[in-house]
Amino acid sequence: MNNFSGNKTDSVHYLCPLCRQTLSLVDKSYACINKHSFDQAKEGYVNLLPVQHKHSKDPGDNKTMVNARRSFLDNGFYQPLIAALLSLYQKYGDHNQAFFDAGCGEGYYTHQHKKSSNYVYGVDIAKNAVRIAAKRYKECFFSVGTLAQLPFENDFFGWIISIYAPILEQEFSRVLNDNGYLVTVTPAENHLYELKQLIYRDAKQHDTNKTPIKSLTLINEQRVSYSMNFNKSDDLINLLAMTPFAFKASEALIENLKAKNSFSCQADFLIRLYQKQE
Ligand SMILES: C[S@@+](CC[C@H](N)C(=O)[O-])C[C@H]1O[C@@H](n2cnc3c(N)ncnc32)[C@H](O)[C@@H]1O
Ligand SMILES: [Zn+2]
Repeated sequence: MNNFSGNKTDSVHYLCPLCRQTLSLVDKSYACINKHSFDQAKEGYVNLLPVQHKHSKDPGDNKTMVNARRSFLDNGFYQPLIAALLSLYQKYGDHNQAFFDAGCGEGYYTHQHKKSSNYVYGVDIAKNAVRIAAKRYKECFFSVGTLAQLPFENDFFGWIISIYAPILEQEFSRVLNDNGYLVTVTPAENHLYELKQLIYRDAKQHDTNKTPIKSLTLINEQRVSYSMNFNKSDDLINLLAMTPFAFKASEALIENLKAKNSFSCQADFLIRLYQKQE
């Protein structure tokens, strides 16, 4: 279990992705005893994704998706989700323990969990997203890396969030300490249903029956549902661009969306809180 002062000048607690030894930050470079080294970028993040763990040149969400999501979230459309997440953290979280956002994107949810007493980390495989996060939220630690092999010791975190990102159960469980919590946010049945109806002839509701986590105990499940009203087509276009169905949208549909002055669409989230219990 970790108790931190929350002071960013303290050591940074990363492990070397190549040999799993501790990394120390010296002169803007993270190095292990085996002389593997990873430079800190000028924005403050570190790229801990070795080439051999990269399955494509530019893994993760592309620049268009990242920028669309950033503009959309900045306009506050997912504020009720943030409120629900922070309320769970307030109620169950130990704010002296380290916090981790797995697949953090541009750090929108990550930084909102920063307290004076906790260390807050975000990892994402998309360098574009991590660069934005690190530039904006200096109080948090961001790194480029894969969720399949996290650069942290066992039992390091008291709280992990996974928001619309891949859930790597074994690895999350490894870095979570005993009695630590994992929060997952996945789409509930009606999430973006009206938007999907414009794209697919027989739009399907999301299947929420899958409970992917077996090794942790589900202790709370809630649904956050509300209607989003768009008065600017830009918001709608951004929303489309940040979804997996953007690839299915025809030129004609995009023109049609651009011409819309108002549109309503359901936000429907499923939030699950799990605990690591013996
Ligand atoms: C839908 S986005 C959600 C981002 C952020 N959690 C949010 O809600 O704003 C999914 C994120 O998971 C990241 N991702 C996908 N596979 C990953 C992996 N294997 N390791 C780390 N990040 C990954 C993507 O780059 C992307 O930023
Ligand atoms: Zn090393």
